[in-house]
Formats: sequence, structure tokens, C-alpha cells
Amino acid sequence: CGIVGYVGARPALNIVLDGLRRLEYRGYDSAGVAIVCDDELLTEKKAGKLANLEKTLAERVSADPDGCPAPKLGIGDGTTGIGHTRWATHGGPTDRNAHPHQSRDGRVAVIHNGIIENFAKLRAELEADGVEFDSDTDTECAAHLLAAALAELRAAGEPDGPQLLAAAMRTVSQRLEGAFTLLAVDAAIPGAVVGARRNSPLVVGRGDGENYLASDVSAFIEHTREAVELGQDQVVLITAESIEITDFDGTPAIGKNFHIDWDASAAEKGGYDYFMLKEIAEQPQAVADTLLGRLTEGGEIMLDEVRLTDQDLRDVDKIFIVACGTAYHAGLVAKYAIEHWTRIPCEVELASEFRYRDPVLDRSTLVVAISQSGETMDTLMALRHAKEQKARVLAICNTNGSTIPRESDAVLYTHSGPEIAVASTKAFLTQLVACYLIGLHLAQVRGVKYADEVGAVVAQLQEMPGKLRDLLADIEPVRELARDLKSAPTVLFIGRHVGYPVALEGALKLKELAYMHAEGFAAGELKHGPIALIDQGTPVVCVVPSPAGRGMLHDKIVSNIQEVRARGARTIVIAEEGDTAVLPYADHLITVPRTPTLLAPLVTTVPLQVLACEIAAARGHDVDQPRNLAKSVTVE
Ligand code: G6P
Repeated sequence: CGIVGYVGARPALNIVLDGLRRLEYRGYDSAGVAIVCDDELLTEKKAGKLANLEKTLAERVSADPDGCPAPKLGIGDGTTGIGHTRWATHGGPTDRNAHPHQSRDGRVAVIHNGIIENFAKLRAELEADGVEFDSDTDTECAAHLLAAALAELRAAGEPDGPQLLAAAMRTVSQRLEGAFTLLAVDAAIPGAVVGARRNSPLVVGRGDGENYLASDVSAFIEHTREAVELGQDQVVLITAESIEITDFDGTPAIGKNFHIDWDASAAEKGGYDYFMLKEIAEQPQAVADTLLGRLTEGGEIMLDEVRLTDQDLRDVDKIFIVACGTAYHAGLVAKYAIEHWTRIPCEVELASEFRYRDPVLDRSTLVVAISQSGETMDTLMALRHAKEQKARVLAICNTNGSTIPRESDAVLYTHSGPEIAVASTKAFLTQLVACYLIGLHLAQVRGVKYADEVGAVVAQLQEMPGKLRDLLADIEPVRELARDLKSAPTVLFIGRHVGYPVALEGALKLKELAYMHAEGFAAGELKHGPIALIDQGTPVVCVVPSPAGRGMLHDKIVSNIQEVRARGARTIVIAEEGDTAVLPYADHLITVPRTPTLLAPLVTTVPLQVLACEIAAARGHDVDQPRNLAKSVTVE
């Protein structure tokens, strides 16, 4: 879920809504705001996308032009506010279940990201005390508990004011189990927003005479580039002039200051119809930026943010890669490269499965956690499990200051810039680059059999931004093909070797964006079952490796293409420029620049991204915000 809080001298509503717009990728099944205004708490919440909430707010203000809150700058009065966009966990996406949730007297409002695991017990206790609930959410417990804690402190004679709000939030936080970020305001305490976090993201934006709280920095980047990172189990109180952090027990704590160097315009569409199209177009730059400063002229790989010694790396005898979704597919590609270059056994595992099967880990295991957001709960829990078993953890992450890199022994940042579209594109390509760099670095440090290949691969990697530019300059035929495929009931994807994870990624993109049935298969497995799916005209996208690299692999997939075509499939062949062997069997040919086999996913994935994006658009879907999904899933 996306969370924003503001205290300052300016009207809060517009600032909160702007922030929510930038966070909407975190969830968009409902949205709400609470503004403290003249000792009153004004709230509005609506199921559906943020636009629904904005419409309701606009109607509310036109009905009462002098009223507050106001959707336009200069009209509203309240300068303290919180806002939320939701990705439902407990309770369906309805107006009632949208956040904020309020105390019975309507004076206290709470928004929440995460899952309060002991909510059933807390709810039963509150109901036994006569509290009536308005929603089905776990969050509402926190609102009632906070109101009760405030009342108790007031009854004990504690003076009203921001400190009271922080003290009450500490009391509540200690009672909650699970993962949460909570923000709260109290009508009686204008000029203060309190936040709490456990296992869920929350950062502070430090302004001039105003301060911000948000799930991530993109919510306030247009106002300030100075941010403060919070630790685990901490409460933060912001007023216009102060930021105070304590642990849940009240011990004062110091947050880590950091400067945000993302370009604010990177979070704007900049002339493209969708963020996804813009992010696809940014891939050459993202790959170049991720390579920048990491390769010496002599072909040495420098990974200076990796705080593991060469000896640590020489001691590694097994690698596990853990990740979810698209990042998992990057891991599947990495396995081929890492095992080939380093000869270290490498397993790739869905983060959500990893810890439950009791994997064999020890001090000499390297666990690589790949996550664009750095906040995916499944991946975080997998890395925590690995650390408990004494394994060393290296994160590949795109988000500075996020939880996964903070809890890892080392981190290699991808430099994609902010990725807003829910379906990952440029982050995926840079994850691949980071995996290649780690594999090559391990090979260099350990001086193993294939270390002599490293220099050549480094040179080839440096050519990739140029190749991606060429590929994107010639992508129009993929768009046309997409329009042609939009009514297909199913699309199958096949590949071998690193083309297999590319096939999985192509199918995932189509599922998440176009809501079409799509499946990726290892081409060699087709004959063991999936070939039965092929009917007259079934589109089959075939990812073909370079004939130059592993000729046998190339020939095998050419046979597979013939097999599906013989059974009526309509073949869409992704092959290298000049690959004439595929021509007789390709109903549609999409060519990619010549690239060595292990690096080929950097180019072969791109047409599949464009295909999915364009099919989704042709079917009339919201490409950037597909139904039921969220970009950053901070629940398990
Ligand atoms: C969500 C997104 C996916 C993404 C996955 C992992 O499910 O919808 O697009 O690949 O999370 O995200 P991460 O931030 O850990 O890379």
C-alpha cells in the first residue's frame, strides 16, 4: 500500500494527493485521506483508483466552496494530513474497508500497510469492551487501540500535544504482531503526524518548515531530496519543525540521513502514453548506468559496494538466488551464467517457498536476494532465514535505503532509476546485468577454469546499451503484430537454456498486463505434455539462441519450432539478425542484434515486453496498473 503524511504550512490535501499519485503503483484498489483542519478531522475514502477519490473530493468542495478539505491549492485550510492507496489484504476493496480508519468519536484516523497478524484476538477484545467495528480490516483495531491509549494517557494527566500522540503510538505498536507501517493523526493535536514501522517500509522527508512521511521517497521527491531512514520497530513523530524518532520502548533513536539523487522527472511519463513504454525506452541508459564505474579499462570488475572480502568469496561453495516474480526470472538466467563462469553450484528459488522447506545453508553459502523495491516481504523473509542459518547475503536492489539491502551483508545496486509501471522492465534488465557482474567477479576472484572468458564478456557487456538502442529503434513491427494477436485465447512461449527463463518472463508479462492465458515452457519439455495445447493457429513465441554460440542448442530449437508448426501453431520467432535457418518456419520473425548466448536475454526479452504492453493496450487495459496487482508487495 502507498502511505503519505504531511505537516507544514501549506494545505496538506494537494500534497498528500500528489504523493499518492506517485505511490499509486503500490496498490490501487481504494484510496483515502484524513486532514486535520481547525481542530476537526475531515476524511474521505473511496473504492477504486485514486481518480475516484479525487472526483468525490472535487464534488464535496464544489458543494461547499469554502469548505475544507479542498482539492485545489489555496482553498483548503488543513496543513496536517495523511493519505493511503490500498492493496487489499483483509476485507474486499470497498469504500468501507478503504483507509483511513477512525476511532468511534471520529477524532483519530489511522492508515496502515502490512498485516496485523493478531488482529482477530485484538478485535475480539475490543468488541468485548463494546467497541463496534465499521470495516472488515485488521487496521481498524489499530485506530480503536490508539484512541484508547490516548484516552488513558489523558486520564492520567499527561499534557495534550504531539508527544502524547507518539506515546500512544508506542503503546499500540507494542501490542501488534506482524508487519506494519502505521500513520495516525488526532484532531485534538493539529500539526503532528505519528508513524510506526515494523517490517514494512517508511521513510521521512525533511523539508524546510515542513516534513513528510511516506512508503518511499517518490511521494515527496518534488518537495525535498533530504530523507531519513528509519530502523526496525521505531516510532517517528513529525511536526513542521521537528522529526523525533524513538524505539517502541521510548528510547530515543537516530535515523540515518540520506540524499536522494533520483531525477524527479524520472517519475513523470514525459510524453509517453504509459510509464511502461517510457521505462522500456530507458533500458539502454539503465543498463549503461548499472555498468558505469564497475568495469576498469583492463576488464577488471569493481564491486566496491560489496562488503565481502575476496576470501569470503573464495570460501563460497554454493549459491542460492531468491526472488519473486520478474526478479525470479532474472535469477533463473543468472544460474546459467554463474555456474558456467564460476563452477559454483547455483540454485534459484522462489522466495515465498525458500524458508518453508528448510534449505541446507551454512557459512559458505552465498544467498543472492534480488528485488527491485527492496521491500518484497517474501524475499525479506527468505533472506532473514538465510542469515539465521549463518549464510552470507548479497542483495541486488534498485532502491537505496530499502529494507532488503539494509539487512544484507552486501549490496549491488542496479541503477534503473524509479520504476513506476507495475510490470517490471528496466529493473529486470539491470538485475541481469548485476547478476552477470557478480558471476564475473566471482570467476575473477576465484581464478577458475573460465576466468579467461571474463575479459571478452566484459567487452560484450559494454556493447549492450548500443545494441538495445538499435533494437528499440526498430520495434514497430512488434507493435503491429501485437494488434494482430490481441484476440488470441492463449499464447505459448518456448525457449531453451537462458531462452527458457525469457519464455517464462514473456508469458508472465502477457498474463499480468493483457489478462490472457499464457505459458512459458522449456522447448524440450513440449513433447512431454504441453504440445497437446497446440491447436490450429495457436500463437507460439519461440526464443531462439545465437547459431554462433551453442550451435547444437540452436538446431534443437529449430526442430521444436518445426514440431509446433506441424501441429498448426502460428510461430513468432525471436532470432538473431542473419539467422537464416529459422526463416522457413517463422510465420513472424522478430530479429534482435547478435549477442553471445549467455547475454542474449538482455535483448530477447525486450520484444516480449513490447508485445505484452501493446496487446494490453489494444485490449483496452490500464498498462501501468493491471488489475489485482501491486508493484511492491509487502505482505507474505
Ligand atoms: C510484485 C510485482 C512484480 C515483481 C515482484 C517482485 O509481485 O508485481 O512485478 O516482479 O513483486 O518485486 P521486487 O520489488 O522484489 O523486485
